[in-house]
Amino acid sequence: MTILITGGAGYIGSITAAKLIQSGYKVIILDNLEKGHQETLDQIKQVAGDFEFIKVDLRDKEKLELALGEVDFDAVIHFAAYIEVGRSVKEPKEFMENNFGGAKNLIEVIVKKGVKKFLFSSTAAVYGHPEELPIPETAKLKPINPYGESKVRVEKLLEKYADFGKLDSIRLRYFNPAGSLNGLIGEKHEPETHLIPLILKAGKGERDKLYIFGNDYETKDGTPIRDYIHIMDLVEAHIFALKHLEKISGTDVFNVGTGTGYTVKEVFETVKEVTRLDVPYEIVERREGDSKELVADPSKIEAVLGWKAQYNLRDIIQSAWEFEKTQ
Ligand SMILES: NC(=O)c1ccc[n+]([C@@H]2O[C@H](COP(=O)([O-])OP(=O)(O)OC[C@H]3O[C@@H](n4cnc5c(N)ncnc54)[C@H](O)[C@@H]3O)[C@@H](O)[C@H]2O)c1
Repeated sequence: MTILITGGAGYIGSITAAKLIQSGYKVIILDNLEKGHQETLDQIKQVAGDFEFIKVDLRDKEKLELALGEVDFDAVIHFAAYIEVGRSVKEPKEFMENNFGGAKNLIEVIVKKGVKKFLFSSTAAVYGHPEELPIPETAKLKPINPYGESKVRVEKLLEKYADFGKLDSIRLRYFNPAGSLNGLIGEKHEPETHLIPLILKAGKGERDKLYIFGNDYETKDGTPIRDYIHIMDLVEAHIFALKHLEKISGTDVFNVGTGTGYTVKEVFETVKEVTRLDVPYEIVERREGDSKELVADPSKIEAVLGWKAQYNLRDIIQSAWEFEKTQ
């Protein structure tokens, strides 16, 4: 089976590509390398083996159609998107054009080609300020930032395509992935906006300190709560989802999280314990677009796909640290 992976030079896409190649799938990676790295592509090759690479921007529909006209594949995993929540508040148009516009072009081109299976990277950000915790997939979608809004729009588009019998899809709503593939491939976002690599970088002295955005939330220590998931658990969820996608028609949606939440301060303390780093920090104003608490109810993915997270927060931090030390 051949899988087209968009955004495969980025963090989650590259590790998924490596794992799929190791599991016997043929892989074609498509990326514009705006945020992804050639070095990451080289590492996939070293760790897992060969794949085809297409450098194209999803926003350029003409070039996309030409490029995809030359290859055959059975399913798509669509990771390519802009991901920084804060930037999305400042540049909503760019986010909509890339995340929604890019996905729409891709879907139109692959459906025209006759490809029927689509796995989509959605996010817990679609839930906004959830009314229910832990959050079930049936919760209302009320994003509070343009990043979350762009993902809701793609989910709705996929529902329409499924209604018309044109494209079967699974939407995976990731909570907070972190960690690495054996310390070899990991998070290299520029700019980095995710908590665990930011704490590690402040501990290494690569950044002056860690900024904690707000300690006046209604949580046990005033800092926001998130559900952290090991990248290898997340990648495994894609393999389970791909197998399910082969069997279903229509569309389905799953949270990918552990069901356990940690505050920013708890993560900070655990990083210090695991790494023994001394990490300078400062509490600053809340950041626009952040929710108080996002914790998954993972019971649907556990029951339907038989997937369950295997790693805990300490494992995640240890794995992220192994990678960060090489950077
Ligand atoms: N990392 C997280 O915490 C997280 C959480 C929830 C959901 N997600 C989703 O997972 C996906 C992957 O996230 P990531 O952390 O690997 O991001 P990343 O930035 O590391 O990777 C995204 C990749 O997509 C490519 N890309 C972006 N726009 C493109 C375009 N128009 N054409 C071609 N390539 C393009 C980039 O060059 C990059 O290599 C995203 O869709 C993101 O919204 C990520």
